[in-house]
Amino acid sequence: MRYLAVLGRQPEISIAELNALYGGGWHKISFSDGALNLALPGSEIPSEDTFVPPAIERLGGTLKLAVELDKKPIEYFMDLPEGKITIGVSDYSRKSSRKTASAEALKLKKILVRHGRSVRVVENKEAVLSTATSLHNGLSGKNERKVELIKIDDEWFRVIGVQDIDAYARRDQARPARDAKVGMLPPKLAQILINLCGPLSNGSTILDPFCGTGVVLQEAILMGYRAYGTDLSERMIEYSKKNLTHFKFKNFQLEVGDATNHKWAQPISAVACEGYLGKPFSKIPNEMEFLEQKQECSATVLGFLKNLSSQIKKDVPVVIAIPAWLRENEKYERLDILDEISDLGYNVNIKTREGLLYYRKSQIVARDIIILRKK
Ligand SMILES: C[S@@+](CC[C@H](N)C(=O)[O-])C[C@H]1O[C@@H](n2cnc3c(N)ncnc32)[C@H](O)[C@@H]1O
Repeated sequence: MRYLAVLGRQPEISIAELNALYGGGWHKISFSDGALNLALPGSEIPSEDTFVPPAIERLGGTLKLAVELDKKPIEYFMDLPEGKITIGVSDYSRKSSRKTASAEALKLKKILVRHGRSVRVVENKEAVLSTATSLHNGLSGKNERKVELIKIDDEWFRVIGVQDIDAYARRDQARPARDAKVGMLPPKLAQILINLCGPLSNGSTILDPFCGTGVVLQEAILMGYRAYGTDLSERMIEYSKKNLTHFKFKNFQLEVGDATNHKWAQPISAVACEGYLGKPFSKIPNEMEFLEQKQECSATVLGFLKNLSSQIKKDVPVVIAIPAWLRENEKYERLDILDEISDLGYNVNIKTREGLLYYRKSQIVARDIIILRKK
């Protein structure tokens, strides 16, 4: 069975997440007229019997998951149990043959109505349905008679999961303790950081040594792990406690501690965090400010990794978001510390060397995600 992923805003990060969690050589599909925001697993995918399909609710970087349709769309719909069918189509075919989503769906409706079926089409002016449109029309794969199909030229896939963007917003807004200064880590990015650690067994302990208001901890618990948070600031530890208690979570431990010298309790199965990102900026920092920030943030992350190195076992994954700053040339400049990190006893993942940057358009401080493993 072939799976298909509709990738999020930063496709390279989405693909890295799928590969870290499920393996299988996921890669982006491209045509000569452009790359699609879609990924397929490669040929190395484990056999059908052993491959566990990705679960959409635990993937921060995937918007929709689909599975290849093993019959023609009309046959698929004709085989559905009686009752009204809702159809949505997202057409990702190469540009020369791409139609609007509605046009494809209306074509199917016409045939089905002739066969006596009652059909509603999710109308859309674009070629593909947005995540919100799919979700709000119930096309999330949970109701067998509400179906979204993805068309890529002559191939058809059926959507089996849609990212619940409303659930992310709800749990983000529900947190009673917030702090605009430490920034707001989006829950889906917290999930990505945890997933980039690779598969972990249930109940594993995830350490966030820069836990702030506790978004990584919250997502770790929701994913079935035990959360261990430390932070330099007593106020932040109070905030994390307030937030985690609000969700009635019990499976966590919190301590005040400087990540550059703290002694953590064992065991530590994985480390996932958004580290210290330096000062927030609303405009591009001048050269002096930039060098100052670079120096301060490098010292914190290297100090932390040096301290951590002797406290974790071989192969423990460490995923950290560190800052990269927008410069006048409109490119992000990263911290140039990967060789020093390697000297501290970590294997540096190839993706990390290439750069996995997470940012919104024109954001001054981007998050540069680095993936390490203790040597
Ligand atoms: C960018 S924030 C992390 C925000 C967090 N992801 C959240 O969900 O709110 C960085 C955090 O690192 C903490 N911090 C800065 N330097 C530190 C150090 N040396 N040791 C531990 N924590 C530190 C700050 O207090 C702040 O809470």
